[in-house]
Amino acid sequence: MTDLDVRTEAEVDQVELADFPDDFAWGAATAAYQIEGAHRTDGRTDSIWDTYSHTPGRVVGGDTGDVAIDHYQRWREDIALMADLGIANYRFSVSWPRVQPGGSGPANQRGLDFYRRLVDELLNRGITPWLTLYHWDLPQELEDAGGWPERETAIRFAEYAHLVVDALGDRVSAWSTLNEPWCSAFLGYAAGMHAPGRVDPAGSVAAAHHLLVGHGLAVQAIRAAGDHQIGITLNLYPVSAQTDNAGDLEAARRIDGLHNRLFLDALFTGAYPADVRSDLADVSEFGFVREGDHALISSPLDFLGVNYYTRHVVGQGPYPGTQLAGFVGRDLPQTAMGWEVDSGGLTEVLQMAARYTGLPIYVMENGAAYDDVLAPDGRVDDGDRIGFLRQHIEACAAAIRAGVPLRGYFVWSLLDNFEWARGYGKRFGLVYVDHQTLQRIPKASAQWYADLLGRHRRGILSPVSE
Ligand code: FCB
Repeated sequence: MTDLDVRTEAEVDQVELADFPDDFAWGAATAAYQIEGAHRTDGRTDSIWDTYSHTPGRVVGGDTGDVAIDHYQRWREDIALMADLGIANYRFSVSWPRVQPGGSGPANQRGLDFYRRLVDELLNRGITPWLTLYHWDLPQELEDAGGWPERETAIRFAEYAHLVVDALGDRVSAWSTLNEPWCSAFLGYAAGMHAPGRVDPAGSVAAAHHLLVGHGLAVQAIRAAGDHQIGITLNLYPVSAQTDNAGDLEAARRIDGLHNRLFLDALFTGAYPADVRSDLADVSEFGFVREGDHALISSPLDFLGVNYYTRHVVGQGPYPGTQLAGFVGRDLPQTAMGWEVDSGGLTEVLQMAARYTGLPIYVMENGAAYDDVLAPDGRVDDGDRIGFLRQHIEACAAAIRAGVPLRGYFVWSLLDNFEWARGYGKRFGLVYVDHQTLQRIPKASAQWYADLLGRHRRGILSPVSE
């Protein structure tokens, strides 16, 4: 069904590519639970997202990842789509309960075989695999034993990392340990808005620490297994104060501390920021930090992954003198998630990251949900997504000009998928998925992105020259 010759007006609205180095890694991203389905196939057991999505009231429309978009069966077709589009880098995640059911014990070879086949086919098609070990699907048994607030979960994670690197280390060179540990810890254990859906502020801080300990242990395991590029992927936000009055600035400091600095400082300076520890003093005494943890967490990396969707503007709002902050809406276009489109924020987070580390930086996720419509002529004309991507890729160029060692950019997402608590209604894909038939239909944005990649490959850097 790929109609790569169709062009809309928006598609020709291209980006100047002169700032992107020849070897810049253009890619697209997905995550296991959001696309695979096959939740009880070949020995897979439940993850916290299976439990959460099957709990009434948790996910919009009662959607679950049981079938998702059936990537477990359709992986070959999905790789072919990528190859047709000229996407040379693919970021995917491995499902922990698929390769180590229950989160302990030996590897499940049938689960690992799926990833072996996937990676082999990617390599066959000239696509570089970028593997993420943990994109939120903790085996349910480990949650039953206490989950990330327990140190033991970090030990289990390192063992799982061993199993995966033993199986795939010979053919995958780019490894990310965690995706967005902020979400795992705080949406999962404090806000209850993600699996496992707990509202346990003290537990959430312990979870953040043990996620980072697990990261450090996994870095060691992957490093010991051979010559790999190892990183972690954080969701960073530029946090701006609504005004420069003291209360608003203070709110911005706190939110920036919890969102960005807690993780960046631990990873790159070997300590938690003192102000964040003191902000959290009523919630947690940080008694879970053991000697050697900080050295482990700040183990040397090879790259930093950054995910970016929007900016936070905050103020003290109606809560002066408290630790609460108000999130302030602005008069900006929004995506279907209700997130403001603010591409300048991407340049800023990349600069923020580059102030912490001189390592190569990759945008591991950036993209937008829109209410895409499959027209009777079979086309999905998503000019709004093209505009979003164009602006954000221009923001990457601005970061490179400002000296950020940005080496790659991955669109979230290759395919429409299960958007966590928002279910299948939120479509982020370059490729439309009919959730009834599971048919894949490249959107106009897929063609636009393919054109951009093709121009960059051929060294046609200026849109004017076309
Ligand atoms: C990120 C997640 C990713 C996707 C996008 C929209 O936080 O890492 O799985 O859901 O948001």
